[in-house]
Order: sequence, then structure tokens, then C-alpha cells
Amino acid sequence: MGLSELLTNKWIVPKDVRPSFKGCNVIVTGANVGLGYETALKFVQLGANRVVLAVRTLSKGEEAKRQVESKTGRTGVAEVWQLDMLNYDSIKAFADKATKDFDHLDIACLNAGIAGLSYQESDYGYERTMQVNVLSTTLLALLLMPKLKASRTATYTPVLEMVGSSNAGLVSKLHSDRTPFASYNTPTGFGKVGVQYNVSKLFVLYVQAGLVDLAKNKESGNPDVFIPVVCPGATNSELGREVKAWLVLRVLLWLFEVLIQRTTEEGARTYISGIDQGEKTHGEFWKDDKIRAPAPLMAGEKGKQLRATVWEEVVDALAKDVPEVRQLVGT
Ligand SMILES: NC(=O)c1ccc[n+]([C@@H]2O[C@H](COP(=O)([O-])OP(=O)(O)OC[C@H]3O[C@@H](n4cnc5c(N)ncnc54)[C@H](OP(=O)(O)O)[C@@H]3O)[C@@H](O)[C@H]2O)c1
Repeated sequence: MGLSELLTNKWIVPKDVRPSFKGCNVIVTGANVGLGYETALKFVQLGANRVVLAVRTLSKGEEAKRQVESKTGRTGVAEVWQLDMLNYDSIKAFADKATKDFDHLDIACLNAGIAGLSYQESDYGYERTMQVNVLSTTLLALLLMPKLKASRTATYTPVLEMVGSSNAGLVSKLHSDRTPFASYNTPTGFGKVGVQYNVSKLFVLYVQAGLVDLAKNKESGNPDVFIPVVCPGATNSELGREVKAWLVLRVLLWLFEVLIQRTTEEGARTYISGIDQGEKTHGEFWKDDKIRAPAPLMAGEKGKQLRATVWEEVVDALAKDVPEVRQLVGT
């Protein structure tokens, strides 16, 4: 995000488009709070048939559901399902349930994400921001893809929406071009002061490219699933929760909140408009009502090579613990 964009972020907000989602079955991950909660609320307001609030803590999900129901007056639409993005068994069980329980799945909004400020390893040996934002999000996308593909009709193409960040554009160089993903998954490779988060969102763009290939219909070559990456802009959510543990940073965050950040409702507008664009945002990066150049490290021959390398690293890392991933990506 450039300086002028940052300074106007709070005042020039995305359009509040209101398409109808009548008949749609929807999943939103990380829906108990922040952008995920606002997005789930919008889907219910906009007429969706079933909206799954995928949350790691069921009691928080139930409270979110209660609020959605009281704000919309619609009951029997929001459902709370458990999903822990730090646990592959939970992700597999969630995807399995979605595959069996829905007659059709129209939208999966993979919103859950973190911005870890210190190096902590997941149970699978990866830094946890990379684990949640990149590896686990990719796993869930791969596991849901067959159901999404099978849900395409002559008049509707399902959407797998991923959440990126224009901060990916701040990354001008990676630790390694040969093993970029691995290089951020060590205590010494951890990108401090938010760099790890920015790199994780760059990797989300590389993963998007891999998923776009998988979404192609084998016969027609057209997408069976649309895959946009959206960025809500700097938004006042719980994302900075770890910053709040540091007094100096807390003051800076407060200033950022007052001067720069938009509300979660305003940020969530981009999630809805990104889906409403249909094929236009497939394989694209959508922010503030425009398709954007995603990041310098996505461009040119170098970007192409990095995309392929990171995709391969991510698939290998997942397949180590979840062998069925090989079958899902067809390698
Ligand atoms: N806020 C911004 O300025 C901004 C800008 C660009 C992109 N984004 C992206 O927007 C998305 C939503 O972030 P937010 O700003 O709304 O942050 P948030 O308020 O912190 O919400 C994050 C959500 O993700 C969930 N989550 C985190 N780890 C999880 C796990 N292991 N398993 C299941 N759920 C987990 C959280 O659940 P718990 O509450 O249980 O932890 C929460 O529901 C993220 O992908 C973020 O990177 C945000």
C-alpha cells in the first residue's frame, strides 16, 4: 500500500455492493470476529441459504451467531462449525463434513489468518503464521475444491475466495529464491516486525496461481471455480492482538486505528464485491473496487519461477503430513 493510499484508507472506502446470495450455501472461516464475522453477517443479510461460521472456539462462534441472528432477524441460516487451522485433523474433518453435509457449496471464503509477532512452531514444524495463512489455508482449499467444482451449474460458478494483503507488495526480496517457503520457517529466517506476515500474504498469491490451474475444467479449460484474492485494506480488527502485548506498539496501533484503519464492515465490503465480480476477479487481486497488480514479486519471469517454486514447496510440505494432497493436485 502506497503512502497516499494509506492516508486515504479510512476516508475513501470500498463500495457497499449488495448482490443477492439467495439459495447460496456459504462457508466463512474465522467468522467469530473481525472481517470474517462482518462477512458472514453480510451473507446472511444478503439472503444466503446456509452460512457456516467456521471457528476454532465454538462458544465464540455461538456468540457470533447470536449477534448475526439478532441483527438480521434471520434464524436457521447461520451455523457454527469447529475448525482449527493449526490442526490438520480438524481441517480434514471440517472439509469432510462440508462435502457430505451440503447438497451444493457455492462460496468458501478462506478468511482465517494471523499476524504472529514472534517465532513459534506449529505441530508440523512450520512457523505458525506460515502454517495458518499459507499451509492450512491451501489444505482447506484443496480439500474443498472437489465439492466446489461439483457444485458448478450452467448458471453459477462457485467461488473460493482467499484473503491477501497489499502488504505483499512491500516484499522486494526473499531470503532465498531456491527454497523461499522453507527459508521463512526457521527461527533465524522469521521475518520480524510484520515482515513474516507480508511474506505469508505474498505466498498466498503464489498459491492462488496453483489453485487457478487446478480449477480449470479438463475439457473446456474454463474455470469450474472462481478464485479471487481480496484485500480489505487496513481494517480495525483483532489482527493486531499480539501487538497489544507491547506498550510502545500499543500506542502506535492506537494512532493507526484512529487515523488510518477503516471499520470491519467497510473492509468486508471488498469480500462481497470480489465475489460479485464473478469471472473478472478470477485469478486476480481485488482491492478497493479495482483489480490491482498484486505484488512486484509476482511479476515477470522471476515471479513465474517463484510462483512455481513456492507452490511445489507448499504441496510437498502438506503431502508429508497429508498424503492425499498428492492426489488432490494430481502429481
Ligand atoms: N485487518 C486488516 O487490516 C487486514 C488487512 C489485510 C488482510 N487482512 C486479512 O483478513 C483476514 C481476517 O483478519 P482480521 O483482520 O479480521 O483479524 P482477526 O480479527 O484477528 O480475525 C482473525 C480470525 O481468524 C481466526 N483464526 C486465527 N487462527 C485460527 C486458527 N488456528 N483456527 C481457526 N481460526 C483461526 C480467528 O479466530 P480466534 O478469534 O479464535 O483467534 C479470527 O476469527 C486475515 O486473513 C488477515 O490476514 C486483514
